[in-house]
Amino acid sequence: MLIKALLVITAYLLGSIPFALIVGKVGYGIDIREHGSGNLGGTNTFRVLGVKAGLTVTIADILKGTLAASLPILFSVDIHPLFTGLFAVIGHTYPIFAQFRGGKAVATSAGVLLFYSPFLFVTMLAFFFLILYLSKYVSLSSMLTGVYAIVYSLIFTDDLPLLVVVTLLTLFIFYRHRANIKRILNKTEPKVKWL
Ligand code: G3P
Repeated sequence: MLIKALLVITAYLLGSIPFALIVGKVGYGIDIREHGSGNLGGTNTFRVLGVKAGLTVTIADILKGTLAASLPILFSVDIHPLFTGLFAVIGHTYPIFAQFRGGKAVATSAGVLLFYSPFLFVTMLAFFFLILYLSKYVSLSSMLTGVYAIVYSLIFTDDLPLLVVVTLLTLFIFYRHRANIKRILNKTEPKVKWL
């Protein structure tokens, strides 16, 4: 029981590492929360600090989800990987190391799925870029990719934990994008310019 609790706490702490804050402050002397959308995530890092920093943060945010989901196997503990993964996502959005003001759950959720179902991850990536190409909105692409993951889990798997977790994550991702949804409706949400 103790080892299970320790693993879940470790997953939360891993998720809590605020890579956008670290890269912004250490690499550029900037608090990313005071710029752009104010979000501690890869998209806002791309927006404020450019491709190199944005990619670094996005990949690091993905991999902390992947690592958190792999903890039960790494330590041979009988917990579902999606469960430790969920705690990494909670850490990412409510990080103990950044006053509980974190990101919008997208990259770290994707990282959890990269470990649990690499095929789903790859098709999600393709779907995300298709919607981004058509809409130019990262936020909309993130939310619709969550919907895609639900549909995929429902139609192509009989994995109930996967269906439950992707549904919870997608609802949470919509909740975290409340401001983006308002901006999309007002037509004030920024579009990506490079597609
Ligand atoms: O992953 C976050 C993205 O969907 C939106 O980020 O900074 O545009 O609110 P942002």
